[in-house]
Amino acid sequence: MKKTFTNTLYTNDNLFILNGLNSNLVDLIYLDPPFNSKRMYSAPVGSKAAGTSFKDMWTWDDVNEEYLNTLAEKYPTLPTYIASVGAIHSEAMKAYLTYMAQRIVEMHRILKDTGSLYLHCDPTASHYLKVVLDEIFGRNNFRNEIVWCYRGGGSPKKDFGRRHDVIFRYSKSDDYTFISDSIRIPYQAEGLGRTDDAMWGKHKGTDKVYKPNPMGKIPEDWWLMNILNANDPERTGYPTQKPLALLHRIIKSSSNEGDIVMDPFCGCATTCVAAQQLGRKWIGIDIEKQAVNILMERLSDDAGLFKNFANTEDVPQRDDIQIVEPKKSVKERLYKEQNGLCKGCGIEFTIWNMEIDHIIPKSKGGGDYYENYQLLCSNCNRTKSDSPMELLRLKIKTRTELLKKKIFFGK
Ligand SMILES: C[S@@+](CC[C@H](N)C(=O)[O-])C[C@H]1O[C@@H](n2cnc3c(N)ncnc32)[C@H](O)[C@@H]1O
Repeated sequence: MKKTFTNTLYTNDNLFILNGLNSNLVDLIYLDPPFNSKRMYSAPVGSKAAGTSFKDMWTWDDVNEEYLNTLAEKYPTLPTYIASVGAIHSEAMKAYLTYMAQRIVEMHRILKDTGSLYLHCDPTASHYLKVVLDEIFGRNNFRNEIVWCYRGGGSPKKDFGRRHDVIFRYSKSDDYTFISDSIRIPYQAEGLGRTDDAMWGKHKGTDKVYKPNPMGKIPEDWWLMNILNANDPERTGYPTQKPLALLHRIIKSSSNEGDIVMDPFCGCATTCVAAQQLGRKWIGIDIEKQAVNILMERLSDDAGLFKNFANTEDVPQRDDIQIVEPKKSVKERLYKEQNGLCKGCGIEFTIWNMEIDHIIPKSKGGGDYYENYQLLCSNCNRTKSDSPMELLRLKIKTRTELLKKKIFFGK
């Protein structure tokens, strides 16, 4: 039976969930990840979201080392770029970019060929993230840098007030969904429209006649929309909650009714609610377990008493890839490919001393397919257990160095 993944709120690390979802599954991805602001965000006491929080401070511990090889194999130039950013900017930015790249690779795989991705960020990391997106999506598939402008109180004394976010829009191919008539706005909306009637009509030196479209204009790539103020009825209190109007514009322009919209960093489920209101299916993922109740409440209240959705922590298993049982013939094929060498210690063993290992454990979205298998000698397999290969290599290195010292100093 085919599993349904939609209208589901996954409460887990999105990397594991994304890795367990089929390729070419979703039509639109909007993500609003932590921005690397070096802050801890908490909801105010007394708000609906009280008790929820998430951290936005990064170290190499946040990087899932099991997935590093996949990243380097698919996009060999990315590790070089990210390492340079580490040298120029900071180790924290290097960790943050690696963390994001690992996830964007999976999002790109899951997106349909006609699909689009909107990445919401701010100037803290936007310039660095743009290069990662160009590499994974192809720079020809960059469509817009949308600048979301808003007003707010308090301004710095020696700088211009920072009052905008950046949303990068990419398509997966040239043949992408964009329904311009669904998002038209009055010509004079957002303050800077064509106010002068003389701008319409025949232009000097051309025969072309310019007439206003009665449905209004397609918005420019800067959007003037209010942020949610403290008393806004939409407000749940969840830190960094985005307005539904922003998501409505994105979803209407880049998906059709019945399409699947995904938000892998869904916070208090703004995207899921907006998708439900607009007749789309949705997938939401958030790691924050404290937030589940508020998400469930919001979905049923704000999305029109909608209750037909699932919530799970379980990692899905892909069913679009050939399941290969780890049996004798698979072992023989791997043994030949590895030239009889253990992938951990690199030592040659007989096939009877080798064991099949999952490169990415099943608990982290890895599955029973050939590309996810390798052979380890029984010693390395026991040492590695469910931890990443890098940890096994470190243990082996330390062991070898200790052994060398022992031989050298005779201790
Ligand atoms: C900026 S907030 C998103 C806010 C959201 N757009 C809204 O309107 O409520 C970022 C969210 O990413 C979540 N998050 C951070 N790391 C994650 C991960 N590895 N997997 C899933 N969610 C994660 C945090 O818990 C937080 O809720």
